[in-house]
Order: sequence, then C-alpha cells, then structure tokens
Amino acid sequence: MNLPDIKEARKRTTNQTEYVYLNQEYDNKLFANQKYFLRTYGCQMNVHDGEEIAARLESLGFTSTDSIEDADVVVLNTCAIRENAHDKLYGFLGRCKHEKEKNNNDLIIAICGCMAQEENVVKDIMEKHPYVDIVFGTHNIHELQDLLINRTKKQNIDVYSCEGKIYENISYKRESDIKAWVNIQYGCDKFCTYCIVPYTRGKQRSRKSAEIIKEVEELVKKGYKEVTLLGQNVNAYGKDLYSDYTLANLLSDVADTGIERLRFVTSHPWDFTDEMVDIIAKRDNIMPYIHLPLQSGSNKILKLMNRRYTKEEYLKLYNQIREKVKDSSITTDIIVGFPGETEEDFEETLSVVNECKFDGAFTFAYSPRENTPAARMEDAILEEVKMDRLHRLNEIINKYSNEANQRLLNKTVKCLVTSLSDKDKNKVCGYTENMKLVNIVGDKSLIGKIVNVKITDAKSFSLDGEYIK
Ligand code: 5AD
Ligand code: SF4
Repeated sequence: MNLPDIKEARKRTTNQTEYVYLNQEYDNKLFANQKYFLRTYGCQMNVHDGEEIAARLESLGFTSTDSIEDADVVVLNTCAIRENAHDKLYGFLGRCKHEKEKNNNDLIIAICGCMAQEENVVKDIMEKHPYVDIVFGTHNIHELQDLLINRTKKQNIDVYSCEGKIYENISYKRESDIKAWVNIQYGCDKFCTYCIVPYTRGKQRSRKSAEIIKEVEELVKKGYKEVTLLGQNVNAYGKDLYSDYTLANLLSDVADTGIERLRFVTSHPWDFTDEMVDIIAKRDNIMPYIHLPLQSGSNKILKLMNRRYTKEEYLKLYNQIREKVKDSSITTDIIVGFPGETEEDFEETLSVVNECKFDGAFTFAYSPRENTPAARMEDAILEEVKMDRLHRLNEIINKYSNEANQRLLNKTVKCLVTSLSDKDKNKVCGYTENMKLVNIVGDKSLIGKIVNVKITDAKSFSLDGEYIK
C-alpha cells in the first residue's frame, strides 16, 4: 500500500528526469468477455489519460460499455480542479456501491486521477468507502494492468507522491481518428497559490522532442488531421531538458511533419517568448488559437496568486499576439473571489476583459484546495459576493464571445469536420482554424475533411454554416 503524501508531492529537486521505456505485454484473454465502464472528468490532460486507461483495460481483454449495470470494472478518472469535483466523486461512488451491493458483488471499483493524489480523499475512501477496490494515482497509470491482475480482497491503494518520471511506449485508445492529443510535458512547477496541480502531477518535465515528433509522424501516417500538444504550461517546454530548444523549436519541428492542424494548450504568459509568437504567426499549419489564462486583472491579486506577471505584461503579450497572428482568437481563464479581492480589484479584471475582448473564457469562483497556500490566506470572500462577480463577469464575457462570432457572419472559413451534430442529424459539426464550433448543413461524408463553410448565423457559443463546394 502506498498513500499520497503532500510533503513529498511538494518537493522539487534538481535531479534529471528519468525516462522509462516501457515494454509491457499482457494476455488479452485474462478478462475476456468482461466489460469496463470508464468515466473521466476534467481537463484535456485527464481526457488523454483516459485514452491510456482505456487502452490498458483493452490489453487485458475488457471491452467498453456505457452502463455501470453491464460493467465488470468501473474506473473513475477524477479531477481536483473543476467545481463540484468532490460531489461528483461521491455521487458516482454512491451509484457504484448500490450496483455492487444489489446486483454484482464482484464489481471492481477503481478510482484514479488528480483526486486520488489528495491525502484527505484517500483517507476518506479508506474510512468510509470500503467497497472501493483499487486506488491509483497520476504517477502509476502504467501499473493499472498489474493492479487489476494482482489485486487482493482488501483495498488496493497505490498512490505515489513524487516528482515523477516520463514513460514512453504508451498505447492509447484515442477517442477520435481525426484529432489527437499528444503529451509534450507533464507536471507543473509554477505553484500558483490556488492550484493543486503541482502537487497532483509532479514536477514540470518535458518529453524528448524526438519522441514527440515520432508520435506525430505516426498520427499523420494514420490519417489524423489535427494534433494538440498538451502540457500544464507548454511555453516552458524544454527548460528542464535542453539549453537551446524551446516550444518555438518544437512547434516548428512538429509543423514540419505535415500535420494539417497543430494546436497547443495550456499557455502561461510568463514563458511566452517573441520567438513563439513569431512561429505561430509564420506557419500556416499552426492554428491561430491561443488559450492564455489571465486569472485576474489586478496586480495585487496576481501577486497573491504567484502568477509572476503584471496586468501590463499580460496586455503587452496579448496585443503582440493579436497584432502578429492573423485572425487569431484568444481565450482565457479567470478566477473571481480570490482571498482579498476587493470590488476595485474585480473591476480591474473587468477592465482588462473590456480591453482584450476575449473570444471566450472559462470563469471560476475561487474555491480553496486543501494544502495550497491560498487555502491558508485570510480575507475569504463571501460566497454571494463571488457569485455576483461571476455573474457580472460572465455577462461581459458572453457579450464579447458573441461579438467575436458575429464578426464571422457571411464569411467563408475553413472547418475541420469532426462528427455528426448532436442535435440535428442533417448537420455535422466542426471547428474553424481559430477554434470556433460550427454546426454545418452537410452529410456525414464530410467528417474528417477540412472544408470551406459559409457562416450563416452566429450565437454566443457556436456558429451555423453551410458547406461550400
Ligand atoms: N479555484 C477556482 N478556480 C481554480 N482554477 C484552478 N484552481 C482553482 C481554484 N482553487 C482554475 C484556473 C485554471 C483553471 C484550469 O482552473 O483558472 O486556469
Ligand atoms: Fe496550476 Fe498555475 Fe501550474 Fe496552471 S501554471 S497548472 S494554474 S500551478
């Protein structure tokens, strides 16, 4: 049994990252005729981990099911950031418990993801949820098969709190055969004071560029049209590994693979260099879409958040991207109600939003994460004040995202068609180069293609369009 340990999770050394080349083979008849139910919450990183988990389960013979009632194993891949994360976990566990007690005594229940890295969550599972069979963390997804094969009747808890290694030769069961996620970096060393990620995902460590390029080349060969490079702070890519190779170099090399669309998330303003902006502007297959979290428009709050930039520096970078990258769209993350945020601080955030006119934003009411520095700060903001600010902020954000969409009205844009539309089977949906969702009149033969679309209607969160031959 290995339990999460916040002190270990916080530790950072100067040790070089260990690169482990996995060579795993399993008998795919071991769990033949058995089914898995996998539920993933949270960010793209977690979604991509979910694709690894699915591949690992299938390597043992499991096939997927959408219903807990049909499942032999249930895996819950949790998120520690998004709102109601705890409610979602316990709500879901309630359903699994019921299923296990009433219908299927042998149901295997496994929990993983960022919440599994939290001391208090694991303690709670041990004390109050004995029916949970397996808990594993973000550092040992590669042990999933062994955990399933070697599990005992007792709770099997194996969570490591460490800086983390990099594992290569991982298989994924990708959700799409058009768009793919590719990890370029794991962990985070920024330690923003509100954020739990540096504790749940270890130190910032970069994959070797050759491995990344090889993975993208293989995806191109398989016919993938779009790749999104993934990391908590992609602009710091390479800093821990190379002296003169940065995200700018990586973007250029990955663009050379010929992938039709290249994206990257998430950016941190602190590490965003001029070279990076230039390469995004220069290369046609690097998409003009940047997610650039602001978090707050008040320098006082940015400092308390340990964001390492001022409002002025953010605006300078923002304007530089807008000027250089043609038809770019920029989205952001904003937290309201951080401890000590006064009405004036909040109004400074609104003023930056009014200046930037973001294409869209994820907005959050601050909520404390156990063991983070902000959780110990005084001057907590009343819930009703947070909600009022969130509401006021969202109104402005929606206004600008609507305006950004309106600007596309009657224009013809390139869309990568990804699927049938959920709502209308006579339509398909796709994304513009700058990441706007478009519902397109057209049939399923368009799926997987990059096509010209004339925009016929614009709403706050999506566009309507017609396929132009
Ligand atoms: N409270 C509210 N929002 C948070 N985020 C991260 N931690 C917290 C927290 N404790 C938001 C940030 C981040 C996004 C992924 O989640 O805006 O960019
Ligand atoms: Fe969290 Fe800040 Fe790292 Fe982003 S950069 S993952 S907000 S600590």
